[in-house]
Amino acid sequence: MATREIQIKENAAALNEAAAELFIRIAQEAIDQHKWFSVALSGGSTPRSLYSLLASESYSSAIDWSRVSFFFGDERNVPPDSDESNYRMAHETLLGPLGINTKQVHRWRTELPDIDDAARSYEADLRNYLDRSKRGLDLVLLGLGDDAHTASLFPHSPALREKERLAVVNPVEKLHADRLTMTFPAINSAVNIMFLVSGKGKSEAVASVLEAEHNPDQYPAQSVQPSNGRLYWLVDKDAAADLKSK
Ligand code: 6PG
Repeated sequence: MATREIQIKENAAALNEAAAELFIRIAQEAIDQHKWFSVALSGGSTPRSLYSLLASESYSSAIDWSRVSFFFGDERNVPPDSDESNYRMAHETLLGPLGINTKQVHRWRTELPDIDDAARSYEADLRNYLDRSKRGLDLVLLGLGDDAHTASLFPHSPALREKERLAVVNPVEKLHADRLTMTFPAINSAVNIMFLVSGKGKSEAVASVLEAEHNPDQYPAQSVQPSNGRLYWLVDKDAAADLKSK
């Protein structure tokens, strides 16, 4: 049975602490039950501080990081060493500081000449992992854009309608660029999904996704509905400002 929980935190610092504690609880539960924890990291700027916190003295010893597989919810069509790369951001803030073995990191191989090959190789990697683990990823971390996109599932983009594939190339008109993204079938098969949203700039998108009429083509994050996992929304007060039910 899928469940949904909304946590509203005073400010960004409290939000990141709550997110770190939830991340650790989920990781410990997975490692206790299955001896392994898998997580799809989100990109953009919001999670930077969460990743740095998880890699800090106060939190890093709470998880046996040698038992973690890292995936990425989405990626930009840039090389892994680009300052636009979600992989590079995670490596700088979390994977590098923790000394994570590259064998534990499943990134989009955007260095491949053909972006479709990058999507298909990531999808094969993810599908192979899921087939072996016989469950969804233990945690999918997601951000929310001010247009209510999540991962690289943007309003009115073709990937919103993907029902079979786990990972695809998604042409994003407003960015005049292709993005790489996990699809809703992949995201919604997760055991836990955590949205992490901070700042006034997101308040309209948060209210639209959680309280407006169901219109996932306009508000893609509305399609994040775990099949039988747990959905957590962790938002700070600024991002929750337009919610009617607080
Ligand atoms: C990306 C992310 C994207 C992000 C939102 C919010 O590749 O940018 O995966 O979905 O989570 O755009 O981004 P910010 O945290 O930078 O506001």
